[in-house]
Amino acid sequence: MSKPLIAPSILSADFTRLGNDIAMINQSQADYIHCDVMDGVFVPNISFGIPVVKQVNKIAQKPLDVHLMIVEPDKYVEAFAKAGADIITVHYEACPHLHRSVQHIKSQGVKASVCLNPHTPVALLEDIINELDMVLLMSVNPGFGGQKFIENTCKKVEQLRDLINRNNAHCLIEVDGGVNLETGKKLVQAGANILVAGSFVFRSENPQQTIADMKRL
Ligand code: DX5
Ligand code: ZN
Repeated sequence: MSKPLIAPSILSADFTRLGNDIAMINQSQADYIHCDVMDGVFVPNISFGIPVVKQVNKIAQKPLDVHLMIVEPDKYVEAFAKAGADIITVHYEACPHLHRSVQHIKSQGVKASVCLNPHTPVALLEDIINELDMVLLMSVNPGFGGQKFIENTCKKVEQLRDLINRNNAHCLIEVDGGVNLETGKKLVQAGANILVAGSFVFRSENPQQTIADMKRL
């Protein structure tokens, strides 16, 4: 079991001082900057889009992990790649031609990742797992920060680890939603590689210390 990689989600940042929050992440032990893009259609909330990712990229010293919670993501992959995304995650539930979507992401020179909502079985990835750089498992229903962790996710991490091993695949497992030191520990034990954390980091008194604490899980 190796140390988890940490991806703070700027959905919980203070948008009146986003530059300061990016500087905090730059100086921290975080490994990625997680950008939650919501369209108000795929999920019941709207967050931010391409212009914000582009600005963040100007000052970010960590790779941008862009989580697209949008319908028809293929239309916007190129724009997010140009804006500076290093990893682009699309939702299984939003992609009727997932193989094509994944190839499209890779053709932009960006790492390709697929996200599963809490009710979507891991087994559905069997025939695409070898194409993926990362799988993102939602541990809340996407749309909002600060929700309660769904415990069933730990079982899904184990199932996904098994699927990866059986197929001799090399993708990383990321988990998103309700992650804190307690749930994060269970996820790492189950086989997760990357932990996303929004409110746990940004609502803590010392976000850099919180990130350092998560690295030690
Ligand atoms: C949820 C987003 C998450 C969210 C996590 O729709 O995809 O990345 O920001 O927030 P917390 O860590 O507060 O659950
Ligand atoms: Zn996310």
